[in-house]
Amino acid sequence: MEGVPIRNARRGDIPSLLLLWQAMMKELSDMDARFAPHPRAREHMANELAKWLQDPNRHVVVAEEGGRLLIGFASAVKSPGNGWQIPSQVARITDCYVIGPRRRNGVGRRLAGRLLDVLYEDGIDTVRLSVAAKDPGAHAFWSSMGWDNLEEILEKDVEPS
Ligand SMILES: CC(C)(COP(=O)(O)OP(=O)(O)OC[C@H]1O[C@@H](n2cnc3c(N)ncnc32)[C@H](O)[C@@H]1OP(=O)(O)O)[C@@H](O)C(=O)NCCC(=O)NCCS
Repeated sequence: MEGVPIRNARRGDIPSLLLLWQAMMKELSDMDARFAPHPRAREHMANELAKWLQDPNRHVVVAEEGGRLLIGFASAVKSPGNGWQIPSQVARITDCYVIGPRRRNGVGRRLAGRLLDVLYEDGIDTVRLSVAAKDPGAHAFWSSMGWDNLEEILEKDVEPS
């Protein structure tokens, strides 16, 4: 998959990006039902994607096979630091997805690498992301590229006591 081009997403990619996003959410919610999208999530995401592609603080990159088929995408957003730790600006990778049949060919690594290159050019030196606790493949993926655990997100349903 060395040859699959990675490029910036454009407006015409939105329908394919939506399909990729839905497939990603399905995989995530099959692993952990707490990630299940609500019935109007697709419509919400279609609007979000249109905004993302116009947002100077947002980067969306895609892997395009054969000049027509999107087989993966990744996205990051820049934001101010928290004001009390050293990075004055941090970026967050919000999505990184490769379709099942094209995995383990280096596409995910190249998508993430492209985002990091672009963020570095933007002056960003700290990037964070969240990984689903029940997704060992994603943990292994990020670890293989030197990403280190910083914090864990805990969740609990609130019930009447
Ligand atoms: C995680 C994901 C993006 C990886 O994409 P990919 O194209 O298969 O990744 P790569 O081929 O670039 O893998 C690079 C390295 O990561 C590690 N890796 C990737 N997937 C792995 C897995 N399932 N199990 C163990 N190690 C894995 C390997 O070290 C791999 O190198 P190798 O194939 O030479 O051994 C893809 O599996 C995916 O879309 N998963 C579902 C969505 C998801 O979990 N996204 C991450 C959300 S933060």
